[in-house]
Amino acid sequence: MKALVYRGNNKIVLEDKPKPEIRDPTDAIIKLKYITICGSDLHILQGHVPTCAEGTTLGHEGVGVVDSVGDGVKNFKAGDLVLIACITSCSACAMCRRGLWSHCDKAGWILGHTIDGTQAEYVRTPLADSSLYHAPKGVDEKALCMLSDIVPTGYEVGVLAGKVKPGSSVVIVGVGPVGLGALITSKLYSPSLVVVIDKDEGRLEAAKGMGADVAINAGDKDAVKKARELTGGAGFDTVIEAVGVPASFEMCQELLSFGGNLANIGVHGKSATIAMDKLWGLNICKFGSMRCGCTGLTLSRYHYGVRELHFYSFVTTHVRSGYAEVGHPPYSW
Ligand SMILES: NC(=O)c1ccc[n+]([C@@H]2O[C@H](COP(=O)([O-])OP(=O)(O)OC[C@H]3O[C@@H](n4cnc5c(N)ncnc54)[C@H](O)[C@@H]3O)[C@@H](O)[C@H]2O)c1
Ligand SMILES: [Zn+2]
Ligand SMILES: [Zn+2]
Repeated sequence: MKALVYRGNNKIVLEDKPKPEIRDPTDAIIKLKYITICGSDLHILQGHVPTCAEGTTLGHEGVGVVDSVGDGVKNFKAGDLVLIACITSCSACAMCRRGLWSHCDKAGWILGHTIDGTQAEYVRTPLADSSLYHAPKGVDEKALCMLSDIVPTGYEVGVLAGKVKPGSSVVIVGVGPVGLGALITSKLYSPSLVVVIDKDEGRLEAAKGMGADVAINAGDKDAVKKARELTGGAGFDTVIEAVGVPASFEMCQELLSFGGNLANIGVHGKSATIAMDKLWGLNICKFGSMRCGCTGLTLSRYHYGVRELHFYSFVTTHVRSGYAEVGHPPYSW
């Protein structure tokens, strides 16, 4: 089968690999229909995730059809259409029972990281009963794929951890797919103001199309000042970081109001400064977390009837051109 393989030093190669086989009784093999590229794949390519070995097939998101299951899998059978959770979890260990699925003793974020992932024709998904979801009947399969990781991450790690409430002022720094996921799900809580900040005008335009009230270019030297002015100088109740570089994390700190919440989504490959001399007395809360993976199916309910959550708008291009657009055209393709 064909697979997109991480070969170190910004290099992704389309290679032939053997089709995966059942290794443990709790495994399933999935034939993929739709996959995505996550900012975390880009962090791996840039060498920010040293736990990912060269030779690993990338990808931790996907929708596909079950090809085969191990003897221990009870909830899925060949032919089922499934959503693959980006986090693999056993649902029974101490961490899973505390709801910290991404810290499962047996798994966590392993797909496309410590084991071969979904950017291939087939993938082996361990702990299938607790790491796959049945696709709701009649769902738009491409849009469903956005619920493996992208949209629920924006929701869980951004909106829920950032405690967005009715009337909140919200600023999102970085509106790639994950930041856009935070944007559309923040709207479920009726915030009074949602501002987005990004370097890329195309992404800012997309964010405005999905309901951002104001878009500011991060390259503007007065970006922070302009954003704070929109709150009458008070700063934002919720600041969501969805980039993963020191500059954006540091900008987020300057956007906080007294009592504000800074929800960090970005995967960071370098350490960033926390300006405690400025922040110590502001009564802020700071969260940095890995997605725990339980809201994907809740959000999929929004596929029924109206599609106001825009999941489908995230699907713009083919994976090959997607990697090329972000500066990593795969070799041998
Ligand atoms: N915590 C988790 O569980 C989790 C899960 C998924 C993704 N992530 C992380 O979330 C982040 C976003 O993912 P994505 O897929 O949207 O990535 P992406 O690379 O598509 O988007 C990042 C956006 O940030 C913008 N940007 C870059 N530098 C900036 C700066 N200095 N200021 C403002 N904007 C800037 C880029 O223009 C881009 O639009 C990544 O770091 C990814 O690894 C974390
Ligand atoms: Zn991801
Ligand atoms: Zn577990």
